[in-house]
Amino acid sequence: MKTVTLLAASILVAIGTATRAEEAGGGAQALLQKSCDTCHAQLFGGKSDGAYTRSNRRVTSKQVLMDQIKLWNSSANAKWGDAEMETVAHYLNEQYYKLP
Ligand code: HEC
Repeated sequence: MKTVTLLAASILVAIGTATRAEEAGGGAQALLQKSCDTCHAQLFGGKSDGAYTRSNRRVTSKQVLMDQIKLWNSSANAKWGDAEMETVAHYLNEQYYKLP
């Protein structure tokens, strides 16, 4: 009985974690779509992820990634707070940069 309860509990934890990860990705995508993607697509060959995938991309560390996000947050007047910037940084790193 105890094992069954533990199993059920760990399944619930796993489901919860997956949902949160998806929400983070979805949230980041929505944020980028709203404030960043249009300009990136215009400037990087119609691809909204062109800035992150070009061969001479600027981001070479998590620090630079965060600096770029802060810079663009104010340039694009996106008005993101720290939590939003963290969400976007996490998403961009997972999706494109894969920095340690
Ligand atoms: C007005 C156009 C414009 C908007 C709006 C814009 N960007 Fe950019 N973004 C650029 C350009 C141009 C570059 C490349 C600049 C360079 O080479 O230094 C860039 C580069 C970047 C990079 C670095 C990519 C790399 O690895 O080289 C990141 C990260 C980034 N933008 C994030 C954002 C985020 C987040 C937003 C929204 C809050 C945003 N940008 C909004 C034009 C824009």
